[in-house]
Parts: sequence; structure tokens; C-alpha cells
Amino acid sequence: MVTAVPPTIDALHDELSHLDDPTYTPEVCGEMTALIAEINVLKRERDAVILAHNYQRPEIFHVADFIGDSLELAREATKVSAGTIVFCGVHFMAETAKILNPKKTVLLPDLRAGCSLADSVTGESLEERKTELRALYPDLQVMCYVNTTADVKAASDVCCTSSNAVTIARALPTDHILFVPDQNLAAYVQKETGKTVIAWDGNCYVHHQIRPEQLRAVKERLPHVEILAHPECRADVLALADQVLSTSGMIRHARESAATEFLVVTECGLSDRLLLELPGKRFFRACKLCQYMKMITLEGTRDALLFRRHEIVLAEDVRQGAARALERMLEFA
Ligand code: 13P
Ligand code: SF4
Repeated sequence: MVTAVPPTIDALHDELSHLDDPTYTPEVCGEMTALIAEINVLKRERDAVILAHNYQRPEIFHVADFIGDSLELAREATKVSAGTIVFCGVHFMAETAKILNPKKTVLLPDLRAGCSLADSVTGESLEERKTELRALYPDLQVMCYVNTTADVKAASDVCCTSSNAVTIARALPTDHILFVPDQNLAAYVQKETGKTVIAWDGNCYVHHQIRPEQLRAVKERLPHVEILAHPECRADVLALADQVLSTSGMIRHARESAATEFLVVTECGLSDRLLLELPGKRFFRACKLCQYMKMITLEGTRDALLFRRHEIVLAEDVRQGAARALERMLEFA
């Protein structure tokens, strides 16, 4: 999917017509191909690379140098040799790239691209809760999901992503874990590890609104579909899934599985990516849009490069604290 040569208008229109989205008219595709060509020139001129999350709009994939889930993007950020990273994703992802790679300029095309999980906990509130709980459980370890701000990471013992949360919880030398901020991922980690996982009261507004009835309705009509669900979903949704996977885990699984029809239970951008990458397989959706991920556009990405905006800046003490939690994750995983 990562392409060096900009697509022609016809090729882009043909590709996007598979998504059944009426907004991708030939005129819109024409404007997009011009922007894609402009962005590719600017990347070379400004010594920049573009990292993009799997939920991004499909046209963004045409300017991305690397596309992945949170863990893959964090790892990739440490390998970049260019001076500038433009992050097509949400704020905590761009911040993670900056934490791990402080000498690089990291740009986020739209500063409004936040995350309901990252918004649900602050470093200060976490410090308070940690003190309360350490009085009860002196061996308590704080695990933060990567969907958090840098000050929350700095107040945590270790970070994790959807693809390694269970592995890291198992590896921690304690039975008591405070998991912030996703209550659903916390419940999943507790179920899988048997450890005592104390959950924060946060959730992803996209995944938390998906209900088991939606999955049952599809399963009744199409009993053979394989259900792939993201661990940010509620426990009653995950109970119906055949596989619980990160976004890239879903792509790998769908590619390798003998099954040909899948119900994809996560943000809709991932179904788009699957439809475009695996045209021989069928994907049904039980998904919702993430308004934050969709704030990133080709225009915003072009302007980020052109005007060098919006740069991620972090206080060095916070950055170092957050880097410790992220590096511990990378060692464990
Ligand atoms: P992944 O790490 O699985 O890509 O998840 C990121 C995310 O924000 C899911 O909502
Ligand atoms: Fe955050 Fe949910 Fe959007 Fe992922 S899908 S970025 S967890 S709000």
C-alpha cells in the first residue's frame, strides 16, 4: 500500500470506488492526486517522512512512508533517519514519536486530533490514585496504555499497546496492576492473565458504543464469518469474537487466515484498509468512525510540511519520564 509514485486520477478513483463512499468523485480524486504529488515533492525538499496509523483516510496511505498500529509506529519512529516526522494519526501518537526521538521535528497536521482515552486521565490524578493504592498494595505497578499524554506515561512504570498489553502484564513482577485509562482493555488483561487489574474509568468512545446485538445480528445471517475485534471493545463484545487483535494484528490475521469472510469490529478506517489490501476477501463492518483520526487530511498534511506546523514540544523532564515507560515496554515486548 505504501507507494512511491502518485496514482493517476483514474487509478485513485477506481481504487476508492471499492469503498462505496460517494464523496470520492472523479473531481475529488483529481484534487487528491494533485495534493499527493505536491506532498511527495515537499517531503523530499523538507527531509521528511510520513508515518500513518491504520485508521487514516485511504488517500493518506498514498503519501505515507510507513503505516501501522501504535506499537509498529512507535518502533518505526526510533528508526527514522530524516530530520522531520509528519504524523498522520492522533496527538498521543505524535507525542510518542517525539518522546522516543527527541532530536527530530515531529509535526501533527491538526492539533484537534485528540483521543477520548488520552483525555480521561491526567498525570496529577494518576499520581493521587497511585499513592492511595500503593498504601494498600506496596507491590502495585502502574501500566499505562499508549493512548495517554506524556505526563501520564511519566507517572507510570510501564507503557503498553493493544498488541502487547497481555504479554507485558504477565511479565510484570507483581500481581497488582493499576491499568490506565481503558477499562475495557483492563478487563481483558485481567481475564487473560488472572492478575488483579484495577481499572481506570476511561474508554474509547468509538469502541465502547459497539454492542453485542450488532455482532449477533450479523452472526445469525452469516454464521461462517470470522469475528475480529479490538480489545478496546466491551467485554460482552469480546466474548463473541473469534480473535481479539490490534489493528495490524487484524490485517495480518485476515491475510493469513483460510477464512474469506470477516466481521471487523473496530474503527471503520481499518475495514477500508482491509478492503483495499485484500480484494479477494469480504469484510463486513461493525464499526464506527473516530472523528479525531478523520481530522487528518491531505490539505492539512501538505500545510504541515509547507508551514512546518504543528510541532510537538515537550518539557525534557516529562519526556525522559515517559521515555522510561516506553523503553521498558519495548524491552518487554
Ligand atoms: P492499535 O494500536 O491497535 O492500532 O490501536 C490504536 C487505537 O487508537 C485504537 O483505537
Ligand atoms: Fe482514541 Fe478511540 Fe480514536 Fe483510537 S479510535 S484514537 S482510542 S478515540
